[in-house]
Amino acid sequence: MRCLGIESTAHTFGAAVMEDEAGGKAAASGTRNTGGVSASHEPQGGSESTDAERSVRDEEVLSSEKDMYEPDEGGIHPREAAEHHYAKSLDVYSNALRQAGIEVEELDCIAFSQGPGMPPSLDVGAVVARSLALKHNLPIYGVNHILGHIEIGRLMTDTEDPVVLYVSGGNSQVVSYAGGRYRVFGETLDIAAGNALDKLARTLGIPHPGGPEIERLAKEGEELLELSYVVKGMDFSFSGLLTEAQRMYEKGDVRKEDLCLSFQEHMYAMLVEATERAMAHLDRDEVLLTGGVAANGRLREMLETMAGERGGEAFLVPSEYATDNAAMIAWQGINRARNEEPDRISGTEIMSEWRPEEVKVTWR
Ligand code: ATP
Ligand code: FE2
Repeated sequence: MRCLGIESTAHTFGAAVMEDEAGGKAAASGTRNTGGVSASHEPQGGSESTDAERSVRDEEVLSSEKDMYEPDEGGIHPREAAEHHYAKSLDVYSNALRQAGIEVEELDCIAFSQGPGMPPSLDVGAVVARSLALKHNLPIYGVNHILGHIEIGRLMTDTEDPVVLYVSGGNSQVVSYAGGRYRVFGETLDIAAGNALDKLARTLGIPHPGGPEIERLAKEGEELLELSYVVKGMDFSFSGLLTEAQRMYEKGDVRKEDLCLSFQEHMYAMLVEATERAMAHLDRDEVLLTGGVAANGRLREMLETMAGERGGEAFLVPSEYATDNAAMIAWQGINRARNEEPDRISGTEIMSEWRPEEVKVTWR
């Protein structure tokens, strides 16, 4: 099966083609394949694990193109982001097909990010996907962006049943699979981790997105400042930390580097503490880190240390699949297409507040 994925939840417009181990159109003709890789993603009961078979070589990313909207100043302006996406959509789509070396007729289905996200941005991906599906008579699947981040992480790292720490610009959640759904066990009580980083960056005069530059500055930090630290059970909060850091900087008595170091240490310690608690309660020894903030080296290191100390293992999504990308949407399209009927066009309205637990998981 070969799927075109379209991503447009926030700042990135992406298009990608993924193909599963069964191959493209010809191989997939006939009845839907509900076994194959889906089955190999089941937790392995016996000692003879087939883990080695579950690798990216079987579910190939034929192409993954994207173009990111970067605001001149400040955060993302939703209308401008949407205009950017409309302007770039056809080029990004054509490049994805060209890079994959296929024609649109060789696709088996189309998937797009149906939510959650910013409505003006989401609309662009939905319109492009619907238009292509109708023009080329392709089955369409609206997929959940959060499950896209989780499933690409699971695919790329070969973890089976992890506790997932999903941290991005719009979301920060501790998620795990239970009873046929991905359940949120803990989450931010206010703003997302990436959003807090981007807002701090703005105060420091760093352009959006601020995560990478804060990471670079933090490496030059020397003094660990005391900042607020809020974990409640498996939930956490970043708005107090952010306000405190912004005030400190505005008062002018701290070095940028020290502030970035301290901000990161506090924020990532909160995330790791909540994640560890979820692992203990759920009796899991694997943890998967995914989402845009998963590109952060320090967070990756802290999570690995925590998992190691528990006798477990941390699985880290490769950086190129950490931030928003369309390969994860194409892969989630394949997951759905192998197990579900396509959506009706009338059922593809965007869902800007769509939560992961609302999705019935048919592919595990
Ligand atoms: P979602 O809809 O999943 O919330 P998003 O729109 O936030 O997605 P992502 O690409 O998943 O998009 O995440 C972007 C966030 O990741 C930004 O807040 C950015 O600052 C942050 N980020 C990117 N690289 C790093 C890094 N190296 N360290 C910390 N944060 C990072
Ligand atoms: Fe994302």
